[in-house]
Amino acid sequence: MSFNDKVVIVTGASSGIGAAIAVEFSGLGAKVTIVGRNETKLKEVAKKCKNPLTVVADITKENDIKKIVTETLNRFGKIDILINNAGMAIQASILAENAMETYDKVMNTNLRSAVYLTHLAAPHIVKTKGNIINISSIASLTVFGKDQFSYGTSKAAMDHFTRSIAAELASSGVRVNSVNPGPVKTDFLENIGISKDQLEATFEHMAKMTALGRVSGAEEIADLVTFLASDKAKAITGAVFVSDNGVLIKAN
Ligand SMILES: NC(=O)c1ccc[n+]([C@@H]2O[C@H](COP(=O)([O-])OP(=O)(O)OC[C@H]3O[C@@H](n4cnc5c(N)ncnc54)[C@H](OP(=O)(O)O)[C@@H]3O)[C@@H](O)[C@H]2O)c1
Repeated sequence: MSFNDKVVIVTGASSGIGAAIAVEFSGLGAKVTIVGRNETKLKEVAKKCKNPLTVVADITKENDIKKIVTETLNRFGKIDILINNAGMAIQASILAENAMETYDKVMNTNLRSAVYLTHLAAPHIVKTKGNIINISSIASLTVFGKDQFSYGTSKAAMDHFTRSIAAELASSGVRVNSVNPGPVKTDFLENIGISKDQLEATFEHMAKMTALGRVSGAEEIADLVTFLASDKAKAITGAVFVSDNGVLIKAN
């Protein structure tokens, strides 16, 4: 599989799944734009990519999203592939005082940012007949954990966004797909407030929730993403690909 001369934007590339996706695309010949807020972590990922463009951006800010597109075009001249990966979760019950604040934050980060970036990038992806991959979650397909209504709702909406724009852009030769992971070992848990000393126990607990008894590494998700972005997947659009070690099929 080769992505020679393809230009790929990866949001949330400073960590976890996004970092693995950026490194894998770069290793396969792509020119990558890596996006995140944490400059130190982005620098570490940049070292593993070949001549990447690093854009320090908060994807909840419209001007930062514009910057991702303009800087990519200035540096590489086109956009072939967009990976909407940046995301986070905040736990809150619908009964909690901060329910709406939490909902707005999660929806802005996980959904609105991806919609706006896609809106700005899509005209350029139409020109290259490229494709778009959204990183969703199995939380879009089942209620996964307590107090996660905002996260699950953002990911369910993202799945339908994938289908909607896949239908819209098909006549322009652009494919749009979703990858929906189950538990993957990344900084996600730490970033939602699980303390370092609880991490191993949490991953062990998550492994027990899967039929295969394991948690994935981020590179397993990157393998699926690069396959879907490649010509090998030329028949695939509007699809939601679950990679969850069998969480959804596990009998209790
Ligand atoms: N790990 C799992 O088990 C799992 C399962 C299902 C789905 N997912 C999904 O996979 C995606 C990646 O998660 P991960 O597991 O790799 O988690 P992670 O290690 O916490 O990475 C999240 C990434 O999103 C970026 N991000 C978050 N808010 C941002 C903002 N406002 N502006 C710019 N970047 C932002 C972070 O960058 P900065 O901190 O540098 O801004 C970071 O690079 C997410 O969409 C998540 O919902 C993960």
